[in-house]
Amino acid sequence: MTGVAIIGLQWGDEGKGKISYLLSRDAEYVVRFQGGANAGHTVVLDDRELRFNMLPAGSASGAKPCIASGTVVDLSEVLEEIELLKSIGINTQPLISRNACIVLPIHKELDSMIEQIRSSEAIGTTRRGIGPAYSDKALRIGIKIEDLLDSGSLKSKIKLIEDFHKLPVGDIEEWVELAEKFSGNICDLEIILNDELDRGKRIIFEGAQGTLLDIDQGTYPYVTSSNTTIGAVFTSCGVGPRKISEIIGVMKAYTTRVGAGVFPTELKNREGDILREKGREYGTTTGRPRRVGWLDIPLLRYSIMINSIDWIALTKLDVLGGIRKIKICIEYDINGERVEMAPPNVRTLEKAKPVYIHLDGWSALTREEWKKVAVKGWDALPENAKTYIEIIEKLLSRPIKLVSVGASAGMEVAK
Ligand code: IMP
Repeated sequence: MTGVAIIGLQWGDEGKGKISYLLSRDAEYVVRFQGGANAGHTVVLDDRELRFNMLPAGSASGAKPCIASGTVVDLSEVLEEIELLKSIGINTQPLISRNACIVLPIHKELDSMIEQIRSSEAIGTTRRGIGPAYSDKALRIGIKIEDLLDSGSLKSKIKLIEDFHKLPVGDIEEWVELAEKFSGNICDLEIILNDELDRGKRIIFEGAQGTLLDIDQGTYPYVTSSNTTIGAVFTSCGVGPRKISEIIGVMKAYTTRVGAGVFPTELKNREGDILREKGREYGTTTGRPRRVGWLDIPLLRYSIMINSIDWIALTKLDVLGGIRKIKICIEYDINGERVEMAPPNVRTLEKAKPVYIHLDGWSALTREEWKKVAVKGWDALPENAKTYIEIIEKLLSRPIKLVSVGASAGMEVAK
């Protein structure tokens, strides 16, 4: 089988967009299977930054973009990103599952309202209407893409949402027009993906957000409203687990988080500010500064365990260049006990005190120098950078097969 899943191992923003692009180059299809326009996946081609919120970033490689049933779709974003692909010479229409629910204007409004009500306990959502769209789906009052094509029943469905929320859904004429425009691509995606996998076609399943933002396995309530972990591939796409032959975890060389919630290795000092600036750690979707911290092995061990990760793609290694001493949290002290695996419970995790090892850093390299490293390959990496990677591999018991040393495609090293 030739299904390949890409899963974020931290709190999102691990650089899945670039990895998905690289792995999609020889794929037939690339699929977004959860979340909505809260994601911000970036691909940098020849110094041009392409940002995807709704389509899989891997589609910049020419693989056919697909949007599966378990997503919540923002149709205006889809339209914009079709144009974005056109601007790089890719003329394509995404295949969209008829069963995917849509994000309505009311969902964005409700997202902001709930955040305001939560006040000091706000999640820090992207305000893209994700939580309310998924909650309407769970309440079985969500509107599916195919409903937009059936004007007869659409009215009563809209009335149900309006009666429930006691608010107008907002102008959805535009949505109906877009759905009509896309009608040729609204399909039984489950059948297509299964048939193509059976025929040996390579399909990339591009995860959004990260494992620690998973609604069940993440740091609830400071999570997103979908499952971001491997199971979502199967439930969202209707593809069975045996059809996925490779599960790849993407992790950054340090940790970041947007929005509120527990963060054991967070750096709230100047070191953190430096890392944020060096890594340009500002949200792709919202522009918000990201919280930053050292690598957290216990959390990564948990992510690797629950996703059955086969191998790891490590990103932003270049950002750590120039830092004299680099720390890695290898275990926690929780109530005086040493713990190697993060507990799947936020209250316990909040008590975790990181136990660090200290490693010597390596000099800062210019972009041009990193480019040369990428051309020459593994041996050209600074010695201490290689040691950093090898220690992580040992601590996580997984190989790191790909190391990204710059935002652009081409600035990576295979191991
Ligand atoms: P929501 O998904 O907009 O409801 O936001 C819920 C939480 O997930 C917030 O902490 C967001 O910052 C976070 N989040 C959502 N999408 C992303 C993403 O693509 N990268 C990083 N954090 C995200």
